[in-house]
Amino acid sequence: MKIAVAVDHGGYGLKKQVLQWLSAAGHEALDLGTDSPESVDYPDFAVRLAQVVANGECEHGILVCGTGIGMSITANRVAGVRAALCTDPYMARMSRAHNDANVLCMGERVVGPGLARAIVEAFLEQPFEGGRHARRVEKIMALDREDRE
Ligand code: RB5
Repeated sequence: MKIAVAVDHGGYGLKKQVLQWLSAAGHEALDLGTDSPESVDYPDFAVRLAQVVANGECEHGILVCGTGIGMSITANRVAGVRAALCTDPYMARMSRAHNDANVLCMGERVVGPGLARAIVEAFLEQPFEGGRHARRVEKIMALDREDRE
């Protein structure tokens, strides 16, 4: 899979490791920054990543900031994006199985690197279950279309 990764200064410490985990699992990563621990504005990075997921350039995205909250709020404003803020592997699995999440958000100040790796692996390994969940996800996606009308 091609997976976009973006972080702000609050998530910068995890970025290199996330890129390494993706490569070790055989995925292609698109690194969208940030590229230093300098303070930046998380919406700039969340929108850039959300757009490459929404336009199909990348199948999934991973966003990291201090808490994951700002990244998830921002990414979910972009039509076509279903961003899930996950703090454990169960949430990551369920976000794929039931919500067909296409962006994973994490907080570097919330989860340690070992837990972050388990969250990333759970997110990437779990397929969407479809069925009744597809109907519910379609209701979410209909909101994007209403917004544009
Ligand atoms: C930056 O200090 C911090 O606000 C940001 O990384 C994130 O946690 C926002 O939600």
